Amino acid sequence: MKIGVLTGGGDAPGLNSAIRAVVKKSEKYGYEVIGIRHGWAGLLNLDTVKLEYENIKDIIHRGGTILKTSRTNPKKVPNGINIACQNFKKLGLDALIAIGGDDTLSVAAALSEAGLNVIGIPKTIDHDVPETEFTIGFDTAVNMAMRLIENLKDTAESHDRVFVVEIMGRHAGWIALYSGLAAGADLILIPEEPFSIKEVTEFVKKKISKEGGQSVLIVVAEGALIKDYEGPITKSTKVDQFGHVYLGGIGEFLAKEISKATGAETRACVPAHTIRGGPPTALDRLISTRLGLAAVDLVKEGKFGYMVALKAGEIVPVPLSKVTGKTKTVSKELYEEAKVFFD
Ligand code: F6P
Repeated sequence: MKIGVLTGGGDAPGLNSAIRAVVKKSEKYGYEVIGIRHGWAGLLNLDTVKLEYENIKDIIHRGGTILKTSRTNPKKVPNGINIACQNFKKLGLDALIAIGGDDTLSVAAALSEAGLNVIGIPKTIDHDVPETEFTIGFDTAVNMAMRLIENLKDTAESHDRVFVVEIMGRHAGWIALYSGLAAGADLILIPEEPFSIKEVTEFVKKKISKEGGQSVLIVVAEGALIKDYEGPITKSTKVDQFGHVYLGGIGEFLAKEISKATGAETRACVPAHTIRGGPPTALDRLISTRLGLAAVDLVKEGKFGYMVALKAGEIVPVPLSKVTGKTKTVSKELYEEAKVFFD
């Protein structure tokens, strides 16, 4: 039996832990593993590497992905799905494990529909893949972001400054919400809850007058939406093969508006990709490992077209068709719960 494994979309800490587990479990069953490099691009270009546990056993603590990644979308490449299917055969694969977020998993679903034996593993720091309580990289990103926000709180307090921290999160505000709450931020703004500039500036004014000083810490997700503005603030209008624009700039924009309306010294900080790299947390290493092991078990059972997911502590298979085309966002109830701290 020959299994292919690839990582697609943005990298995330914990990917290497999952790859390592896939290889270990495969070897236990006597299977061969081929790493497909640069995500779906590697399947289209036959860019592969043989993976052996002996050579990759020491990668559990390493961020990024040893297989490299890309945002290539075979559905947008002429004849891409057919080429992918032909190359699956050319490589002599019996199964393919695709580790990725909604974009990568949507291609996995398309290939599964086209008849390939595909299994998905959920990955994204954004945490927005439905039908799973865990996505590879989210926990590390939250912890990284929490520490950065805490650091900024110290300096904001010392200088009586307002800080706006822009945190990754395209359609869902999970990282901003969790890291902001964990670090004790004063206000957290997420894509799910559009806000007006006035609401934010009034919040800052009130906070300053109530507390005397001018230290206010606001966390904003990069994809947060301003009421009466069309779409999120972007760095360029160019879209990638999955139709995503390059987000960024809302932190700087808000900082200027706050400074203008309140007179408070306001700074923006954009940690951007710094929260997406570095060693994975223990949780990211462990659950990624369990997902990798479970994916190979599904191959052994011949159960294809599924994503392995974490639900109530158990790793369970979920049909890929139930996962794609949907985004797991922060619920109104959860945001309401958090709002008790925004006063
Ligand atoms: O992988 C998810 C993510 O980190 C989003 O939070 C962010 O919007 C996007 O990727 C950035 O992608 P890139 O690194 O391709 O600019």
